Amino acid sequence: MGQLKTRIFEKSATTDTSEELFRSVDDVAKRLKPEAPVQCIFPERVRSQAQRFLTQFPGKVLYAVKCNPGPEFLRHMYAAGIRHFDVASMDEVRLVKGLFPKGVSLHFMHPVKSREAVRAAYKLGVRTFSLDSVGELMKILEETKSAKDLNLFIRLAVSGNAAAYDLSGKFGAAPSVAADLLRHARKVAYKLGICFHVGSQCMDPAAYRAAIVRAGDVLAKAKVKLDVLDVGGGFPATYPNMTPPDLDAFMRTIADAAHDIVGPVGIAAGAELWCEPGRAMVASSAAMLVRVTLRKGRRLYINDGTYGSLFDAGALNWRFPVRLVRPLGRSGKNSSTPNSRLPSEKLVPFVFYGPTCDNLDKMKGPFMLPEDTQEGDWIEIGMLGAYGSAMQTRFNGFYCSTAATVWPEAMPLADERPARRRAGLRDVSQPGEAVQQQLMLEAPSRATEGPAEESAELSADGNTDTRSLELK
Ligand SMILES: Cc1ncc(COP(=O)(O)O)c(C=O)c1O
Repeated sequence: MGQLKTRIFEKSATTDTSEELFRSVDDVAKRLKPEAPVQCIFPERVRSQAQRFLTQFPGKVLYAVKCNPGPEFLRHMYAAGIRHFDVASMDEVRLVKGLFPKGVSLHFMHPVKSREAVRAAYKLGVRTFSLDSVGELMKILEETKSAKDLNLFIRLAVSGNAAAYDLSGKFGAAPSVAADLLRHARKVAYKLGICFHVGSQCMDPAAYRAAIVRAGDVLAKAKVKLDVLDVGGGFPATYPNMTPPDLDAFMRTIADAAHDIVGPVGIAAGAELWCEPGRAMVASSAAMLVRVTLRKGRRLYINDGTYGSLFDAGALNWRFPVRLVRPLGRSGKNSSTPNSRLPSEKLVPFVFYGPTCDNLDKMKGPFMLPEDTQEGDWIEIGMLGAYGSAMQTRFNGFYCSTAATVWPEAMPLADERPARRRAGLRDVSQPGEAVQQQLMLEAPSRATEGPAEESAELSADGNTDTRSLELK
């Protein structure tokens, strides 16, 4: 097939984005036959999530660049209307400024910055800085020569109990300290804000309500005029075993709770409402296409891992949706070589091991895949648009540097799109397929009742690769 080079979007922002397009993740495997992992990007998804926030959040939406700083993602977001970016470092400032020299606002929401970063960011036009200590306030004032156009945001300590990833241990001023900081900052700030972070992947809208109520209490104590209430990030995505309430419920709760503070008669009447979503904006916008380097029983050694895009799968033991990708030969029928056969319909649990020599480079899952999964197969790991490629290191020399744009793709691999029953290039999921998948899961047996890891070590059940059996 000829190379499909198309211009998918109108000249967005600054760059003439001529990208190679793939019809599906299977198409990426078929055409690139990648030895290294490939990040598969679903632009429609970036745009729809950005638009969702822009239309549903009752205030200003800042995208948290750290979550996925991929230029493609930023460009698609810009095209969808995002004009505000929460940056954490000078690298992120330069990245966003380089892509969009005009018409966007950058907000430095990291509460601890180097003096050099404050100075350089201010020179490049950044005016919003967050802080949670007197030391940081003094630093910002000194490095900007007490500029009169600073927007200073006091980061308040709030509970991270409702979040799958608690962020409360590192930043945030206790209420009494926050009240003092608000008073001091009010004297020197052009705009004064309160911000907080309820923790990433927050599963309960009530956490935002509690944080907003706390912000209201602090404000009442400080008795100063507030210009912005920033509810931070933390909005959740749906992962296997983690189904949060719908985004609408978060938006409604925030709007209701904020009304008591910033409403017509609230303590901070007329204040703006901001948010800084990362994960919920991009989690479903990318998948990693990885390859099996070796199979040992129920252990799959793959070419991406904890030091690559799968930190959360390893360190936090999060599960991600997976699907075998085995592009078929021309006939699409069973053939003699294992990697061109239709995969088994029976799904069994696997443990993943990453490419480095490190013991921690392991992802317990369990990940349900066809029982004849083997060396040379590709696997699509979904829901990796957030804190996936952004977390990569080059440890042991492994790194993913290839991105493929998959378009149009109605539904990226996520909980709502069941893994296709068969690998190959059949793109349309059949109605009722989810039920079939469910039924095909291996019935619990002694060998597979426990964690996949145990079955990998204890049993060779379902292992069709006799070489790995011999080596065990
Ligand atoms: C200051 C700040 N804002 C926003 C975010 C984005 O959070 P999330 O990805 O949970 O939405 C983070 C994440 O660490 C953060 O530190």
